[in-house]
Amino acid sequence: MRSLVFSAVQPTGVLHLGNYLGALKQFAQLQSLHDCLFCIADLHAMTAPYDKNRLADETRMVAAAFLACGLDPKRHLIFCQSAVGAHAELAWILNCSARMGWLERMTQFKEKAGKSRERASVGLYAYPVLMAADILAYRATHVPVGEDQRQHLELARDIARKFNADFANGESFFPLPRACVMGSAARVMSLKDASRKMSKSDLSPMSRIELTDGDEAIARKIQRATTDPAPLPDNEAALKNRPEARNLIGLLAALSSEETEATLSRIGGGGFSDLKAELIARLQSEIAPLRRAIAERLAHPEQLDALLKDGAERARAKARPILEETKEAVGLLLPR
Ligand code: TYM
Repeated sequence: MRSLVFSAVQPTGVLHLGNYLGALKQFAQLQSLHDCLFCIADLHAMTAPYDKNRLADETRMVAAAFLACGLDPKRHLIFCQSAVGAHAELAWILNCSARMGWLERMTQFKEKAGKSRERASVGLYAYPVLMAADILAYRATHVPVGEDQRQHLELARDIARKFNADFANGESFFPLPRACVMGSAARVMSLKDASRKMSKSDLSPMSRIELTDGDEAIARKIQRATTDPAPLPDNEAALKNRPEARNLIGLLAALSSEETEATLSRIGGGGFSDLKAELIARLQSEIAPLRRAIAERLAHPEQLDALLKDGAERARAKARPILEETKEAVGLLLPR
């Protein structure tokens, strides 16, 4: 079976180092080998409180970041989720295959809803079903994501499996999509609290490196990143109870395109100050070109809008026949 890559990023604030190392950098690598669909998940951004006056600009920001990372909108598709109606239509059909019990187990819902479960939106609860629809609308097979999305991908597989069993005699009407979670940066943690993942929603900007940060901000954030008092170990096993060291070493390994063991054998025995100095230099040289490219793209919003329009047209053409087949499979009467 041919592989088809799909992934998406929510337009909720400036993208950070976790998004970049966990997802966007992988997208750039995969596009040379596979056909890819890169989507901006604006419908997902509506599942939590958001500013409607900023959503369009945040969407352009993700498009600009995609381009800055080298994604090629001619060979692949870059588009907005809300511009392709098939995502929401298929999500409804898949809502009828997904089971409450499966959604109840989603840890992201539990975390995001917190204590006020009763007041969480239905959209937040059904969020993983829309994710499944995003992927299955194109029969995509591979989904590059960070570790935090792995459980949602398992759910997408469960939904596809049940749909196939109920409506396609167990045939592979929808392929079971596979999560591609790679490398030492699949779970980048907060610089302030290494027990939490780096996140756009963290109130402290010191907890994350943003793709628009300047050299000084990068240096300041890494210098102030939380550490522990012991020297750095020279093997991975010794990182087990050292979340801060593990996070910073994982970042350095990812940015140096090294295995963690190789980074450790280079810097093990030294202190955090040398590690931080090298990390700052690596980050500055990796992020500066991204920052400049993002700014250049954002200076021409009309070009971004045109690119998204073109991507949406091409995505609609791909999704339409699959949605029609799906409607037929579940017994809906199609207008002919
Ligand atoms: P989002 O917008 O939260 O994150 C975008 C991508 O960045 C990854 N990521 C991280 N990776 C490593 N360390 C971190 N700290 C970190 N934080 C975020 C995420 O895993 C993701 O790959 N629901 C998705 C968007 C989505 C989607 C989809 C993804 C919608 N439909 C279909 C795949 C397939 C989300 O909110 O990602």
